[in-house]
Amino acid sequence: MHQNIQFNLPDQIAESVAPWNEWLETGRLRILADDRFRTAPVFGPLLPFWDQIPKCFIPGGEASKSLDVVQKIWSWLDAEATDRGHVLVIVGGGTITDLGGFVASTYKRGLPFVLIPTTIMGMIDAAIGGKNGINYAHFKNQIGLFQLPALTYIDDHFISSLDALERTNGWMELVKHSLIADAALWNDIADIDIHLPDAIEPWIQPAARIKKTIVAQDFLDQSVRKTLNYGHTLAHALEWKAQEDGIPLSHGVAVGWGMIWSNGWSGSLQPTESRSLFQVSQKIHGWLDGIPENNQRDWLSALNPRDVWPAILRDKKNRNGVVLDVVLDRVGNARWDHPLTLDKFSSIWKQVFQ
Ligand SMILES: NC(=O)c1ccc[n+]([C@@H]2O[C@H](COP(=O)([O-])OP(=O)(O)OC[C@H]3O[C@@H](n4cnc5c(N)ncnc54)[C@H](O)[C@@H]3O)[C@@H](O)[C@H]2O)c1
Repeated sequence: MHQNIQFNLPDQIAESVAPWNEWLETGRLRILADDRFRTAPVFGPLLPFWDQIPKCFIPGGEASKSLDVVQKIWSWLDAEATDRGHVLVIVGGGTITDLGGFVASTYKRGLPFVLIPTTIMGMIDAAIGGKNGINYAHFKNQIGLFQLPALTYIDDHFISSLDALERTNGWMELVKHSLIADAALWNDIADIDIHLPDAIEPWIQPAARIKKTIVAQDFLDQSVRKTLNYGHTLAHALEWKAQEDGIPLSHGVAVGWGMIWSNGWSGSLQPTESRSLFQVSQKIHGWLDGIPENNQRDWLSALNPRDVWPAILRDKKNRNGVVLDVVLDRVGNARWDHPLTLDKFSSIWKQVFQ
């Protein structure tokens, strides 16, 4: 499966050029955008035409990945007399692109859609690979489908308005990409201070390409694509538990904690790598400590591993009642479908979190 990705960087390869003018001339565009873009600046080819195109605004955040919000957007598409000749342009972070891709793919059996990710998380991960979906019964991404956008347009100007939390969130997925697939990239980024201006931008394109390359090998998530879930089994379980407890825990931070746990597990399976994986975890701790009020360290320390195990048992990667997860053989090399027991999960938890 080939995904069209276009970067705003002029000296980089534009892998495809969207027929924006044709779409605009024929009035074929509809925009679904994060609510913040009612007032915040928008970048890219749509900017001069922004006011002319029918728009629906939805607040960014996990609560919007719901069936209620899906129905609201379907109704708006109906009210705008949308047909399969229209293109839905989706502008926002990972929650809005996951949601919008699902809405577009299901409305009238599928409208073409374009993703314009506005967070680092979206640029390097959520808007690449064609996984669209919503949450259900407090569990993440339980309802969804695989459908590639017509185009993902990545404009890194959007990064400038992201706060420290959102920079850290996206950075965690970038770290993950390097750990599972590119040891040289890990060495390059390990000491980056992500809060310095322009620190992150150079790494967006390499990270997006890692995701694209992995997805191209395994679009339907049967083999190597599962490695992109490194740290995510625990991350999704923590997000479920945080929601139950009324604790705000963002996806990227949960992935950070998930990777720290997974590094501990991987190190126990590969003792010769345990020291270097421990050092990786120390770096992740450092980035998470940069957002002390949002990293939920105290909440995590008070948890018992059995509190999150029920959610791990619900993970989409499991088969026949066996929990299957991703481990690192070493930095830059991951393996999928490794079985995990509650005893092992608990013993690693005690080592890394208590
Ligand atoms: N489909 C996939 O393959 C995939 C991969 C990774 C993550 N995800 C999903 O992505 C979601 C997380 O994405 P996210 O972290 O982007 O969350 P998000 O969409 O909630 O955005 C985070 C916050 O940033 C704000 N925001 C968006 N753009 C901004 C900008 N340019 N400047 C300032 N603020 C901005 C949003 O309003 C929101 O408050 C999760 O639901 C996760 O499951 C999906």
